[in-house]
Amino acid sequence: MRFTTSHTEVEAEFVSAALPADAVVLEAGCGRRSRLGDYRDRIGRLVGVDVDANAGAENSSLDQFVRADLGRRLPFEDGSFDLVYANFVIEHLEDPPATFAEWRRVLRQEGSLILLTSNVANSYLAVARFSPESVRSFLKRRGPGVAARDVIPTHYRANKPHVLESLLGAAGFESVSVTYVATLHRYAGERPALAALLRRAEQILPPRRRSTIVGWYKRSA
Ligand SMILES: C[S@@+](CC[C@H](N)C(=O)[O-])C[C@H]1O[C@@H](n2cnc3c(N)ncnc32)[C@H](O)[C@@H]1O
Repeated sequence: MRFTTSHTEVEAEFVSAALPADAVVLEAGCGRRSRLGDYRDRIGRLVGVDVDANAGAENSSLDQFVRADLGRRLPFEDGSFDLVYANFVIEHLEDPPATFAEWRRVLRQEGSLILLTSNVANSYLAVARFSPESVRSFLKRRGPGVAARDVIPTHYRANKPHVLESLLGAAGFESVSVTYVATLHRYAGERPALAALLRRAEQILPPRRRSTIVGWYKRSA
């Protein structure tokens, strides 16, 4: 399996391949910004869902924002979307099976699910997971530059490769392509030597233990 350190490059590859022309897309847990803004030439309609109404109101890439809880029934008809996209949302879900079932329901027959999420089979993330909230918040601010208001509670209920595969399979998804990306270097901030060390530390891990899961799935028949 290839070694890659850019989750955005893998995501771009999957999104470009998965989007039909004039696609209708649901961004689940859209937050304040959407990377799908870069694909508006291929997206006819972009709908965002989030529990945080303030974040959704700020998200200027969307055609429509709907405040809703991803753990409950979503206010969309069956088969409404060509793509469901979730960028660093799964780690926050309290009931992943319910959420995955809803994502499948609202997807069209040939629809795709693309997700990015943390992999707690990665030893470093597994340790970080049990550190105090204040420490995790500090690391996210100093590293990837996440604002304090956007550091929200995590549950990691579907954040190991075999758990995610099993829950998505049970919900009626099959994988098209899954890549495990080494992203810990983002926590190094402006320290290139530390970034290089973290890249190397992940390179020697088995691929399924690298820190970020980027997956593309289709509805199974
Ligand atoms: C880490 S942020 C990512 C936001 C955005 N996807 C991005 O890439 O910037 C996670 C988002 O998921 C939302 N979220 C978490 N659990 C949710 C739920 N059960 N229902 C709806 N939104 C949820 C949060 O409010 C937050 O905006």
